[in-house]
Amino acid sequence: WFTQPLVVLVLGASGDLAKKKTYPALYDLWQQSLLPRQTVIWGFARTRWNTQQLRHHLRRSMAEHASIDRFLDLCFYRHGKDYGDKSAISSIFQSCTIIHNLLIYLAIPPQVFTDATLALKQVLSQNRISGFVRIVLEKPFGHDTISCRKLLDSLKEQEWKESELYRMDHYLGKEMVQNILMLRYNNPWLQHIWNKDVIQSVHILFKEPFGTEGRGGYFDSIGIVRDICQNHLLQILTLIAMQLPEQLTSAAIRDAKVKVLKSMPVLQPRDCLLGQYEGYSDDPTIADKDTRTPTYVCVRSFVNAPTWEGVPFVLEAGKALNERLCEARLFFRGNGTSALVLRLQPQPAIFLSTNMKRPGFSMSPIHTHMGIEYGEHCIVPEAYTRLLLDVLRGEQASFVRDDELVAAWELFTPLLKSIEMRSPIKYQPGMDGPHERENFLRSMEVGKPWSPPRASL
Ligand code: BG6
Repeated sequence: WFTQPLVVLVLGASGDLAKKKTYPALYDLWQQSLLPRQTVIWGFARTRWNTQQLRHHLRRSMAEHASIDRFLDLCFYRHGKDYGDKSAISSIFQSCTIIHNLLIYLAIPPQVFTDATLALKQVLSQNRISGFVRIVLEKPFGHDTISCRKLLDSLKEQEWKESELYRMDHYLGKEMVQNILMLRYNNPWLQHIWNKDVIQSVHILFKEPFGTEGRGGYFDSIGIVRDICQNHLLQILTLIAMQLPEQLTSAAIRDAKVKVLKSMPVLQPRDCLLGQYEGYSDDPTIADKDTRTPTYVCVRSFVNAPTWEGVPFVLEAGKALNERLCEARLFFRGNGTSALVLRLQPQPAIFLSTNMKRPGFSMSPIHTHMGIEYGEHCIVPEAYTRLLLDVLRGEQASFVRDDELVAAWELFTPLLKSIEMRSPIKYQPGMDGPHERENFLRSMEVGKPWSPPRASL
């Protein structure tokens, strides 16, 4: 693919996602010479812009990027009356002298997904593409099992092949998430402790120090369970809990992840704590001022496989909390402080929260850690950049397969239904969740690792 001409088509090019993620990721690839020499990037949306206006818009938002004008020379724009506007999409194809490989990025709302894919399919049938056609789709992939199946069915009816579809969960592109399988695969000794005999509980935690910030209108119909748990945190869980396949091929990895999801019993409302930060509904984009949408969730799940029998996997996520942090903590049986911690952010790190003798005459133990922090010297790619490169390489391991998606929704849909009428517990912004959190976690056998000060790792 690298020596062949590439056309990238960004649908929703004038929107927020394209501005914040898609174009910067394409820029990163271009800047690191990871795009073919003959690359053209077409933007398409409803906004009545021309190419100059798109370039102006991107120049402003990406002003700090070196040589941005040279990158923008590759970018063009066309608007259409809607995302099903075949003649507008077709006119883009007509302006390309050659289309060998085609990467389509859908940075558009889910309501218009299928209109867009249908129009694309029809236009593609009239144009000969000699190389690949790959489509990147962004979540949400439905709202529950039924709507997810509907979405998948309509893509099938339109005759898109699974091998052409790349469902993006950007957490799968994060360095530490990519590291989970590497770590497990390349340290055979880990297999001896990676099971119920040694691990007491697994806690996968996501904390954000800000609220919805103008995204309330969107967030309010989704809630934290759909926004973070059902996808990002569940993906981390499957990578931790899955059986290691003989070889780390895309198909084997995705098969093993589906197996985990299918072995999980549906989530129980009694195992779920919900919260909402004070002032959430003050967000002017939230219409319902009595909204019950949770902005915090902590939920316990299990994996019914011999390796993990009885081990709680606790997923916790919250907005407007006290810090930005995302970690997977594997607690060892015993005292509730010894754990292997995989930190995704703010800075990737791995450490063993452990105990040792206090140095000196004393024979008392102290908490300490052994760890590795990816410092500033260690440059890790942005998740979107890495994942786009995977798409170009045709590598699907870090994208969500159709059966995986259905299994994930089946696990969460009954819980989502049952909590619709439940009032979440209020918490103050800047706390680590509702007051009930600590007792709840204790009842789930989740400990507290000794976290080293950030700079000392
Ligand atoms: C997105 C959620 O998927 O992930 C956002 O919709 C959330 O609500 C974001 O803020 C967090 O991603 P990151 O990469 O900033 O941790």
